[in-house]
Amino acid sequence: MNQVISNISSVDFDKIRKDFPVLDQKLNGHPLVYLDNAASSQMPKQVADRLDHYHRYEHSNVHRGIHTLSQKATNAFEEARIKVKELINAADSDEIVYTSGTTDSINLVANSYGLINFKKGDEIILSEMEHHANIVPWQMIAQKTGAVIKVIPVTDQGELDLDAYKGLLSAKTKMVAVVHVSNALGTVNPVKKIGELAHESGAMMLIDAAQSVPHKKIDVQDLDADFITFSAHKMCGPTGFGILYGKMNLLEAMPPYRGGGDMIDKVSFEETTYNRVPFRFEAGTPPIAAAIGLSSAIDYLNDIGMSAIEERENQLVEYMMDRLMEIQGLRLIGDAKERASLASFVVGDIHASDVGTILDKQGIAIRTGHHCAQPILKRFKVPATARASLSFYNTKDDIDRFMDGIKTVKSFFQ
Ligand code: ALA
Repeated sequence: MNQVISNISSVDFDKIRKDFPVLDQKLNGHPLVYLDNAASSQMPKQVADRLDHYHRYEHSNVHRGIHTLSQKATNAFEEARIKVKELINAADSDEIVYTSGTTDSINLVANSYGLINFKKGDEIILSEMEHHANIVPWQMIAQKTGAVIKVIPVTDQGELDLDAYKGLLSAKTKMVAVVHVSNALGTVNPVKKIGELAHESGAMMLIDAAQSVPHKKIDVQDLDADFITFSAHKMCGPTGFGILYGKMNLLEAMPPYRGGGDMIDKVSFEETTYNRVPFRFEAGTPPIAAAIGLSSAIDYLNDIGMSAIEERENQLVEYMMDRLMEIQGLRLIGDAKERASLASFVVGDIHASDVGTILDKQGIAIRTGHHCAQPILKRFKVPATARASLSFYNTKDDIDRFMDGIKTVKSFFQ
C-alpha cells in the first residue's frame, strides 16, 4: 500500500491515542506519561491483534512448505518486505534484508562488506554523536582488517562540524557511517550532504536511521545512501526485528554473514553455494511474526500519514522546548537548529538518575543515563542526561505533567 498523504488537521490524534492500551493505565498511583519513545515506541492494538491472529491461525515456517499454511505465512512474510520497500522508496524489495534490528544490520555491513573491502590503513569515518551500535562493530572490523577510525567532531551546539568532516575525507576513506537523528542529542544531521561528500571521495555511506524512519518520510533513493539501518520496535512494531537496506549491486557483491538453512543454494561437503540476495543474509528460520508485525505497523503509520506524524511531533517538541526553557537551571545537552522530537538535559547538579527516579514515582517514564552514546556525553562533560522523547500519540497534557514532575524533582533538592 502506498503512503496516504494526510494533513495533520484531518487526523484525530485523541482517537489515535486510544489505540494504545498501554497508555491507559496508572503506574505508581498516577496515569502513565510515556516519554521514552526513542528507546522503544508503544504498539497499537491493531498491530498486537495482527500478531495474535498470526500466532493463533496462520503460523507456519516460511519458504519451506508446499502446504497451504506455509504458503500463507510466506506470503505475509514477503508482503512485509514490499511494505518496507514502499515505505522507504527502495528501488527493489530485494534490497530489504531482514535482521534482528539496527545493531544487527550494522554488524552485517561491517562484517560482510567491511571484511572484503577494508585493508590496512583504510579509513572509516564515524561521528562523535554515534550510538555504540554504530561504533563498536566498526572498531571490531578495524581490528581485524587494520582499518583506522576517524571521528567527525561535534560543535558546542550539538551539530556535526562539516568543515572538519571535509578535512577527514581522503582517498583512504572507505566508509562513512553517520546517524541521521542522534538519540542522545536530538540533532538531525544533513545526511544527504554527508553522503554526497563521501561519494565524491569514493567512499560508501551508511545511515543509522533508527531514530528517523519512525518519525518522518525517508526516501532512500533521494538520500542515495549505500546502506540504511532501522528497527521495528521504534516504529510501533515488535522487538528483535529490523531492516538493512542496501543498494543491490553492493549486496550482490557481499558474502553471507551467517551460515545455515535458507541462505544456501546447494550444500555439499566439498562446496556450498549461496542463495540470492536478500535470502543469502537471512540464515535460519527468520522472525516471521515480527516481519508480519512490522508490516501491520507500517499500515498503521501510513493510515495516519508520515507527513502528519512529522508535523504533529514537530508541534509537540516545539511546545516541550518552550516549557523546558521555563525550568531554571536546566541545561540542554545539544541545541541543534534542526531537532527531532526529543530533548536531552541536566537539571542543575541533580543526577539524571535521581531526575528519572522521582519522575517515575509520578508515573512519568523518561530515559536517563548515557543512552548508549558514551563518547558524546564525554564531549559535553556530563556522565548522564535525562531524555524525554515524544511520539505522535503524546499530548500537550503529557508535557505539562512532565513539567510539573520536573518542578517536583527540583523541590526535592531545594
Ligand atoms: N537506542 C535506544 C535509546 O536511545 C535504546 O534509548
